[in-house]
Amino acid sequence: MTDLAQKPKTPITLSTLNKYKKTGEKFSCLTCYDASFAHLMDVAEIDTILVGDSLGMVVQGQSSTLPVTVADMVYHTANVARGNGHALIMTDLPFMSYATLADAISSSRAVMQAGANMVKLEGGSELAQIVQTLANNGVPTCVHLGLTPQSVNVFGGYKVQGKTESQTAKLLSDCEILVGAGASMILLECVPSALAKQVTERFDVPVIGIGAGVDTDGQVLVMHDMLGVYTRKPAKFVKDFLSDASNETGDIVGAFKNFHQAVKDKAFPTVAHSF
Ligand code: KIV
Repeated sequence: MTDLAQKPKTPITLSTLNKYKKTGEKFSCLTCYDASFAHLMDVAEIDTILVGDSLGMVVQGQSSTLPVTVADMVYHTANVARGNGHALIMTDLPFMSYATLADAISSSRAVMQAGANMVKLEGGSELAQIVQTLANNGVPTCVHLGLTPQSVNVFGGYKVQGKTESQTAKLLSDCEILVGAGASMILLECVPSALAKQVTERFDVPVIGIGAGVDTDGQVLVMHDMLGVYTRKPAKFVKDFLSDASNETGDIVGAFKNFHQAVKDKAFPTVAHSF
């Protein structure tokens, strides 16, 4: 059984992640939606927490992330912030809550005031003005590209993106424009490893991957997935760290610690988890 006493740790900030990028140290990220799990992630020294709109699916039981509201994100961000110790907290702006600049400002204000350190938005170059305005107002952004679940109805399902030459060129150009506009981080979901490697090498900002191969600067998993709490068939990039033989304590903190260490050691993900 893991000792759950909290030891004071140096807070992880964007500067920390930028430093990791320069030194080649990988960083861990898990989704989290409440104070208790945020506390356990602090004990396990997880670097960054994503209050993801995946909560629509894994907490609320919805069939997509579309029904999630700003009020939901505020509620869960505040809960996570109360349990958090040292991790950087990133919160998703939910579906259609940043369709206009005014909406983006109001949604970002709400989640930042609830305890987020940065916001995550799904999309490409069309977000440039929003990213720039938020940066000018003290709100760092992470831009989420590749498989963007809020666009599931456009994609016609949860499919690997960036496989064709034109999709690759578009994704690289989107990143160029968004980093130029002031995006502080890039998240790539379900893209070929070679494309994720290119993005990670080309841009100075930290790049987090999920189903994006072994080369990104950070790795994120949905907490329920990495604890083996599945309501549907897990994706190829998922690993159950709770029941894994390497989890000596057999508990949740052990699973979080092993994920964190596997990311740092470049032992997770492997090519078997990649596209
Ligand atoms: O909402 C979420 O959990 C996410 C991850 C899949 C990256 O955006």
